[in-house]
Amino acid sequence: MEIIIQSDSRRASELAARIVAQTVIEKPHAVLGLATGNTPRQLYRNLVRMHRESGLDFSGVTSFNLDEYVGLPPAHPSSFHSYMWAHLFSGINMAKERINIPDGMTTDIPAACRKYEQAVRSAGGVDIQILGIGTNGHIGFNEPTSSLSSRTRIKTLTDESRLEAAGAFGSEDAVPKHVITMGLGTIMDSRMCLLLAFGRKKAAAVALAAEGPVTAMVPASILQMHPRAILVLDEDAASSLKMAHYYRWVSEHKPDWQKY
Ligand code: PGA
Repeated sequence: MEIIIQSDSRRASELAARIVAQTVIEKPHAVLGLATGNTPRQLYRNLVRMHRESGLDFSGVTSFNLDEYVGLPPAHPSSFHSYMWAHLFSGINMAKERINIPDGMTTDIPAACRKYEQAVRSAGGVDIQILGIGTNGHIGFNEPTSSLSSRTRIKTLTDESRLEAAGAFGSEDAVPKHVITMGLGTIMDSRMCLLLAFGRKKAAAVALAAEGPVTAMVPASILQMHPRAILVLDEDAASSLKMAHYYRWVSEHKPDWQKY
């Protein structure tokens, strides 16, 4: 794992945007794995700006979103479809037919999940997977005790995750109980994982994921087994890391060719 600590979420999101942009420039047909939530908003804002100001070209890019609520039509204001159009897709030049988000309205969830996995494979696999982390250590909606080798499937949300989502729905009762999410095995197949975490409320989950044992109780800890997992944190999210001084030292002494 590479752990990069930035002074604040603005700088962290700029760095993350540079990493994504580098991938898209080097590989115009890159496959991006996308996340929703509060955390990647600034990253997406930066990508929209790079598209507008420097012509960062997404016309050949394919994307796969991590998850969607079961039972929400794409046009629902709290769906991840709506989120993605509001925060990224309406501001860049991705081709509509190359945008993939799980269908929360499907009538055959197992078949739709198999099809989603197949579509990721057919696209050549995910080059860079953007991730947030839940306070309970989830990535995507792989809640604690998720199989570390799980694939895209239906999951039942924990109370904690439903409470965290309550803001977007007006109340906890209105938050769907089920989601379709890429699995931990699906995420681990990506060539690079880029996890962002900001704020003190993420500090405990980040420390367990990075420095604790690999365990299904902290799904993000599986990233310790990934050959190229980068955690980009602000100071608050990094505040419980035991080895923070070492991660800072590593970042400061990177050879030029390794810098982002
Ligand atoms: P957040 O969610 O970015 O809204 O904090 C992260 C997550 O639950 O994965």
